[in-house]
Amino acid sequence: MSASPSSFQPDNTDLDRLHSAVSREKADLQPGREPVPMLVIFLAIVVAVVGGNQLGVMTGGYSFKVSNPFNFAQAPDPRPGAADGAGAADPFQLAMKKGASGYAVCGGCHQGNGLGIAGQFPPLAGSEWVLGGTERLVRVTQHGLIGAITVKGQGYNTPGGMQAFGAAMSASDLANVLTYIRNSWGNEATMVTKEMVEKVRSEEKRASQWTESDLAPFADKNVPGEIPAGPGATAPATTAAK
Ligand code: HEC
Repeated sequence: MSASPSSFQPDNTDLDRLHSAVSREKADLQPGREPVPMLVIFLAIVVAVVGGNQLGVMTGGYSFKVSNPFNFAQAPDPRPGAADGAGAADPFQLAMKKGASGYAVCGGCHQGNGLGIAGQFPPLAGSEWVLGGTERLVRVTQHGLIGAITVKGQGYNTPGGMQAFGAAMSASDLANVLTYIRNSWGNEATMVTKEMVEKVRSEEKRASQWTESDLAPFADKNVPGEIPAGPGATAPATTAAK
Protein backbone atom coordinates (compact mmCIF):
# COMPACT_ATOMS: atom_id res chain seq x y z
CA MET A 1 0.00 0.00 0.00
CA SER A 2 1.15 3.49 -0.76
CA ALA A 3 0.82 6.47 1.58
CA SER A 4 -1.42 9.16 0.32
CA PRO A 5 0.16 12.61 0.07
CA SER A 6 -2.15 13.93 2.74
CA SER A 7 -1.02 11.33 5.21
CA PHE A 8 2.74 11.83 4.56
CA GLN A 9 4.55 12.84 7.72
CA PRO A 10 8.19 13.94 7.02
CA ASP A 11 10.57 12.40 9.49
CA ASN A 12 11.91 15.63 11.01
CA THR A 13 13.93 13.75 13.54
CA ASP A 14 15.92 12.00 10.88
CA LEU A 15 16.49 15.21 8.95
CA ASP A 16 17.77 17.07 12.00
CA ARG A 17 20.06 14.24 12.94
CA LEU A 18 21.42 14.24 9.42
CA HIS A 19 21.98 18.00 9.37
CA SER A 20 23.64 18.14 12.70
CA ALA A 21 25.97 15.36 11.64
CA VAL A 22 26.93 17.36 8.57
CA SER A 23 27.41 20.56 10.50
CA ARG A 24 29.67 18.84 13.05
CA GLU A 25 31.93 17.77 10.27
CA LYS A 26 35.01 19.96 9.88
CA ALA A 27 35.50 21.69 6.57
CA ASP A 28 38.08 20.07 4.37
CA LEU A 29 41.56 21.28 5.30
CA GLN A 30 43.07 23.54 2.68
CA PRO A 31 46.86 23.76 2.34
CA GLY A 32 48.20 26.71 4.32
CA ARG A 33 45.03 27.13 6.33
CA GLU A 34 45.49 24.34 8.78
CA PRO A 35 44.74 25.31 12.39
CA VAL A 36 47.78 26.27 14.48
CA PRO A 37 48.75 23.39 16.73
CA MET A 38 48.29 24.04 20.46
CA LEU A 39 51.98 23.31 21.02
CA VAL A 40 53.02 26.19 18.74
CA ILE A 41 50.66 28.61 20.52
CA PHE A 42 52.00 27.48 23.86
CA LEU A 43 55.64 27.95 22.77
CA ALA A 44 54.84 31.43 21.40
CA ILE A 45 53.45 32.42 24.79
CA VAL A 46 56.58 31.12 26.51
CA VAL A 47 58.82 33.11 24.13
CA ALA A 48 56.76 36.29 24.66
CA VAL A 49 56.90 36.03 28.44
CA VAL A 50 60.60 35.17 28.67
CA GLY A 51 61.60 37.67 25.96
CA GLY A 52 59.44 40.43 27.41
CA ASN A 53 61.02 39.90 30.79
CA GLN A 54 64.47 40.15 29.26
CA LEU A 55 63.55 43.44 27.56
CA GLY A 56 62.29 44.71 30.87
CA VAL A 57 65.59 43.88 32.55
CA MET A 58 67.93 45.12 29.79
CA THR A 59 66.79 48.75 29.70
CA GLY A 60 70.02 50.17 28.33
CA GLY A 61 69.75 52.91 30.95
CA TYR A 62 66.24 53.86 29.95
CA SER A 63 64.09 54.77 32.90
CA PHE A 64 60.44 55.57 32.60
CA LYS A 65 60.73 57.63 35.77
CA VAL A 66 63.07 60.01 33.94
CA SER A 67 61.70 59.81 30.41
CA ASN A 68 58.02 59.72 31.28
CA PRO A 69 56.49 62.52 29.21
CA PHE A 70 53.64 62.89 31.68
CA ASN A 71 55.85 63.36 34.71
CA PHE A 72 56.23 67.12 35.02
CA ALA A 73 57.95 66.94 38.39
CA GLN A 74 60.92 65.54 36.52
CA ALA A 75 64.37 64.56 37.60
CA PRO A 76 66.62 67.66 37.57
CA ASP A 77 67.97 68.93 34.27
CA PRO A 78 71.40 67.25 34.00
CA ARG A 79 72.87 69.77 31.52
CA PRO A 80 75.94 71.70 32.72
CA GLY A 81 74.97 74.97 34.31
CA ALA A 82 71.29 74.08 34.43
CA ALA A 83 69.56 75.28 37.56
CA ASP A 84 69.76 72.73 40.33
CA GLY A 85 71.30 70.25 37.89
CA ALA A 86 74.58 68.50 38.34
CA GLY A 87 76.23 71.42 36.53
CA ALA A 88 75.25 73.83 39.31
CA ALA A 89 77.88 72.19 41.48
CA ASP A 90 80.59 72.99 38.93
CA PRO A 91 82.14 76.30 40.05
CA PHE A 92 83.35 77.11 36.53
CA GLN A 93 79.92 76.65 34.91
CA LEU A 94 78.29 78.62 37.70
CA ALA A 95 80.78 81.48 37.35
CA MET A 96 80.24 81.54 33.56
CA LYS A 97 76.49 81.71 34.03
CA LYS A 98 76.62 84.53 36.56
CA GLY A 99 79.39 86.29 34.67
CA ALA A 100 77.31 86.29 31.50
CA SER A 101 74.60 88.33 33.19
CA GLY A 102 77.12 90.50 35.04
CA TYR A 103 78.76 91.31 31.71
CA ALA A 104 75.77 93.51 30.87
CA VAL A 105 77.69 96.25 32.74
CA CYS A 106 80.57 96.00 30.25
CA GLY A 107 78.71 95.07 27.07
CA GLY A 108 77.53 98.61 26.40
CA CYS A 109 81.09 99.56 25.51
CA HIS A 110 82.91 96.30 24.75
CA GLN A 111 79.82 94.87 22.99
CA GLY A 112 78.07 91.54 23.42
CA ASN A 113 80.45 89.89 20.96
CA GLY A 114 83.47 91.19 22.88
CA LEU A 115 84.79 92.98 19.80
CA GLY A 116 84.36 96.52 21.16
CA ILE A 117 84.04 99.46 18.79
CA ALA A 118 86.98 100.30 16.56
CA GLY A 119 88.94 103.34 17.74
CA GLN A 120 86.75 103.81 20.80
CA PHE A 121 86.29 100.70 22.93
CA PRO A 122 89.00 98.04 22.70
CA PRO A 123 88.08 94.39 22.13
CA LEU A 124 88.08 91.82 24.92
CA ALA A 125 88.01 88.87 22.48
CA GLY A 126 91.58 87.79 21.95
CA SER A 127 92.90 90.68 24.06
CA GLU A 128 96.23 90.14 25.79
CA TRP A 129 94.89 92.25 28.65
CA VAL A 130 92.10 89.73 29.21
CA LEU A 131 94.05 86.54 28.55
CA GLY A 132 97.28 87.65 30.21
CA GLY A 133 98.09 87.94 33.88
CA THR A 134 95.13 88.18 36.22
CA GLU A 135 97.05 90.72 38.36
CA ARG A 136 96.70 93.30 35.57
CA LEU A 137 93.18 92.31 34.57
CA VAL A 138 91.78 92.57 38.10
CA ARG A 139 93.50 95.95 38.58
CA VAL A 140 92.12 97.34 35.28
CA THR A 141 88.56 96.58 36.24
CA GLN A 142 89.01 97.36 39.93
CA HIS A 143 90.54 100.84 39.46
CA GLY A 144 89.95 101.76 35.83
CA LEU A 145 92.32 102.61 33.00
CA ILE A 146 93.24 105.84 31.20
CA GLY A 147 95.60 107.10 28.53
CA ALA A 148 97.06 105.52 25.45
CA ILE A 149 96.98 101.73 25.42
CA THR A 150 97.62 99.04 22.82
CA VAL A 151 95.29 96.08 22.38
CA LYS A 152 95.99 93.47 19.70
CA GLY A 153 98.33 95.88 17.96
CA GLN A 154 95.74 98.69 17.83
CA GLY A 155 96.13 101.94 19.73
CA TYR A 156 93.30 103.30 21.89
CA ASN A 157 93.14 106.51 23.85
CA THR A 158 89.50 107.16 24.61
CA PRO A 159 88.92 110.40 26.50
CA GLY A 160 88.07 109.61 30.10
CA GLY A 161 89.39 106.07 29.69
CA MET A 162 87.55 103.32 31.54
CA GLN A 163 86.02 103.97 34.92
CA ALA A 164 86.82 101.96 38.05
CA PHE A 165 84.32 99.18 38.79
CA GLY A 166 85.73 98.23 42.19
CA ALA A 167 83.25 100.25 44.19
CA ALA A 168 80.26 99.32 42.04
CA MET A 169 80.76 95.55 41.95
CA SER A 170 81.18 92.94 44.67
CA ALA A 171 84.31 90.82 44.59
CA SER A 172 82.37 87.77 43.47
CA ASP A 173 80.48 89.68 40.75
CA LEU A 174 83.73 91.03 39.36
CA ALA A 175 85.40 87.61 39.58
CA ASN A 176 82.52 86.00 37.67
CA VAL A 177 82.61 88.66 34.94
CA LEU A 178 86.38 88.26 34.56
CA THR A 179 86.03 84.47 34.36
CA TYR A 180 83.35 85.03 31.74
CA ILE A 181 85.41 87.37 29.53
CA ARG A 182 88.43 85.05 29.83
CA ASN A 183 86.30 82.16 28.51
CA SER A 184 84.03 83.68 25.87
CA TRP A 185 84.34 84.49 22.15
CA GLY A 186 87.10 81.91 21.74
CA ASN A 187 89.02 83.11 24.80
CA GLU A 188 90.26 80.39 27.13
CA ALA A 189 92.02 81.08 30.39
CA THR A 190 91.90 80.18 34.07
CA MET A 191 89.10 81.26 36.36
CA VAL A 192 89.33 84.42 38.43
CA THR A 193 88.00 83.77 41.91
CA LYS A 194 86.39 86.02 44.50
CA GLU A 195 89.40 85.40 46.75
CA MET A 196 91.77 86.71 44.05
CA VAL A 197 89.75 89.92 43.64
CA GLU A 198 89.63 90.33 47.42
CA LYS A 199 93.40 89.86 47.62
CA VAL A 200 94.03 92.62 45.08
CA ARG A 201 91.48 94.84 46.82
CA SER A 202 93.20 94.48 50.16
CA GLU A 203 96.69 95.06 48.72
CA GLU A 204 95.94 97.84 46.28
CA LYS A 205 94.28 100.99 47.52
CA ARG A 206 94.24 103.31 44.57
CA ALA A 207 92.01 106.29 43.88
CA SER A 208 93.05 107.09 40.30
CA GLN A 209 92.80 105.07 37.11
CA TRP A 210 95.77 103.00 35.99
CA THR A 211 97.88 103.79 32.95
CA GLU A 212 99.41 101.19 30.69
CA SER A 213 102.93 101.86 31.96
CA ASP A 214 101.82 101.66 35.62
CA LEU A 215 100.42 98.24 34.93
CA ALA A 216 103.33 96.90 32.89
CA PRO A 217 104.90 95.09 35.90
CA PHE A 218 101.66 93.13 36.39
CA ALA A 219 101.11 92.22 32.74
CA ASP A 220 102.21 88.60 33.05
CA LYS A 221 101.53 87.96 36.72
CA ASN A 222 98.67 85.95 38.10
CA VAL A 223 97.03 86.64 41.43
CA PRO A 224 98.03 83.65 43.56
CA GLY A 225 95.14 81.52 44.70
CA GLU A 226 93.40 78.26 44.22
CA ILE A 227 91.69 77.78 40.86
CA PRO A 228 88.78 75.45 41.59
CA ALA A 229 87.82 74.32 38.10
CA GLY A 230 87.65 75.15 34.43
CA PRO A 231 90.33 75.56 31.77
CA GLY A 232 93.91 75.36 32.98
CA ALA A 233 92.81 74.57 36.52
CA THR A 234 95.31 71.76 36.84
CA ALA A 235 98.20 73.70 35.29
CA PRO A 236 100.74 74.97 37.80
CA ALA A 237 100.56 78.71 38.46
CA THR A 238 103.95 79.46 36.92
CA THR A 239 103.65 83.24 36.89
CA ALA A 240 102.27 83.83 40.35
CA ALA A 241 103.06 87.25 41.75
CA LYS A 242 105.98 87.41 44.13
C1 HEC B 1 81.81 103.22 29.43
C2 HEC B 1 82.53 102.31 28.57
C3 HEC B 1 83.18 101.09 29.20
C4 HEC B 1 82.61 100.18 30.06
C5 HEC B 1 81.20 100.15 30.61
C6 HEC B 1 83.63 99.19 30.32
N1 HEC B 1 84.79 99.49 29.67
FE1 HEC B 1 86.48 98.44 29.63
N2 HEC B 1 87.40 99.87 28.56
C7 HEC B 1 86.79 101.00 28.09
C8 HEC B 1 87.77 101.84 27.46
C9 HEC B 1 87.52 103.19 26.82
C10 HEC B 1 89.00 101.18 27.56
C11 HEC B 1 90.36 101.69 27.09
C12 HEC B 1 90.91 102.64 28.13
C13 HEC B 1 92.08 103.44 27.63
O1 HEC B 1 92.06 103.80 26.46
O2 HEC B 1 93.00 103.71 28.41
C14 HEC B 1 88.71 99.92 28.24
C15 HEC B 1 89.66 98.94 28.50
C16 HEC B 1 89.37 97.71 29.04
C17 HEC B 1 90.31 96.62 29.17
C18 HEC B 1 91.76 96.62 28.71
C19 HEC B 1 91.85 96.62 27.19
C20 HEC B 1 91.19 95.45 26.52
O3 HEC B 1 90.38 95.67 25.61
O4 HEC B 1 91.44 94.29 26.87
C21 HEC B 1 89.65 95.61 29.77
C22 HEC B 1 90.21 94.24 30.12
C23 HEC B 1 88.31 96.05 30.04
N3 HEC B 1 88.18 97.34 29.59
C24 HEC B 1 87.37 95.29 30.67
C25 HEC B 1 86.12 95.76 31.03
C26 HEC B 1 85.16 95.04 31.84
C27 HEC B 1 85.38 93.64 32.39
C28 HEC B 1 84.07 95.82 31.97
C29 HEC B 1 82.81 95.54 32.79
C30 HEC B 1 83.00 95.28 34.19
C31 HEC B 1 84.33 97.05 31.24
N4 HEC B 1 85.58 96.97 30.69
C32 HEC B 1 83.45 98.08 31.12
C33 HEC B 1 85.46 101.32 28.19
C34 HEC B 1 84.55 100.65 28.97
